[in-house]
Amino acid sequence: MSTGAPLIEVDALHKDYTVGGKPLPILKGVSFDITSGELVSVMGSSGSGKSTLMNILGLLDHPTRGRYKFGGRDVAALSEPELARVRNQQIGFVFQQFNLLPRLSARDNVALPLLYRGSARRDALSRADAILADLDMAERRHHQPSELSGGQQQRVAIARAIVGAPNVLLADEPTGALDSRVGQEIIDLFVRLNRDAGTTVLVITHDAGVAQQCERRLLMRDGLLLADDR
Ligand SMILES: Nc1ncnc2c1ncn2[C@@H]1O[C@H](COP(=O)(O)OP(=O)(O)OP(=O)(O)O)[C@@H](O)[C@H]1O
Ligand SMILES: [Mg+2]
Repeated sequence: MSTGAPLIEVDALHKDYTVGGKPLPILKGVSFDITSGELVSVMGSSGSGKSTLMNILGLLDHPTRGRYKFGGRDVAALSEPELARVRNQQIGFVFQQFNLLPRLSARDNVALPLLYRGSARRDALSRADAILADLDMAERRHHQPSELSGGQQQRVAIARAIVGAPNVLLADEPTGALDSRVGQEIIDLFVRLNRDAGTTVLVITHDAGVAQQCERRLLMRDGLLLADDR
């Protein structure tokens, strides 16, 4: 349920990559707002710019032009330490490629955002264990990522994103490596977080069934927002 306060405001967002010395436009002027408490899906064909947009929304990359306000603050005005603090305290991010730390166990990967915040190691680990158990990963919590299947790594990545109870969860194809049953459990979890904790959720998906469970659906095509359905 949306609460009315704008959390994410993007205005005429552009992103160019430089390829062979020439700018290659990827995002070509994307504008939308997301209100606190919304549950939003993002669909669009491969290469349409979904991950590029998500990385900017997650404060992991900067736009080439245009404005991005997060929680009412112009992101361009934030220093690197301020950006890191907002990321750690307010944003949970599920990467399309998981980005787990290879030498850490599942539970240590999940506990990491809490340790960065200054939580005691004991508390961080017990919280990590609880979330991993929720995701049916208790028995694998001492495994390193290379000792886990793709779907298990994905669940660790999801656990890491939600362990700190973020205001906003940005998930880049979080069910891509999961079978349909586990994928549905993850979506159910996101719906619960949204409904019960008021977490704003933005989820990229190729699965129309997942998108249908979101109250709002964005569609990207070739670097532009083609549709915004509620
Ligand atoms: N670092 C980069 N340098 C140059 N081009 C890039 C870079 N990263 C992405 N691109 C290009 O930007 C376009 C958009 O990529 P992006 O990863 O955002 O797509 P996507 O919509 O997430 O696709 P998918 O559904 O396959 O994940 C692609 O054409 C890609 O080749
Ligand atoms: Mg992508």
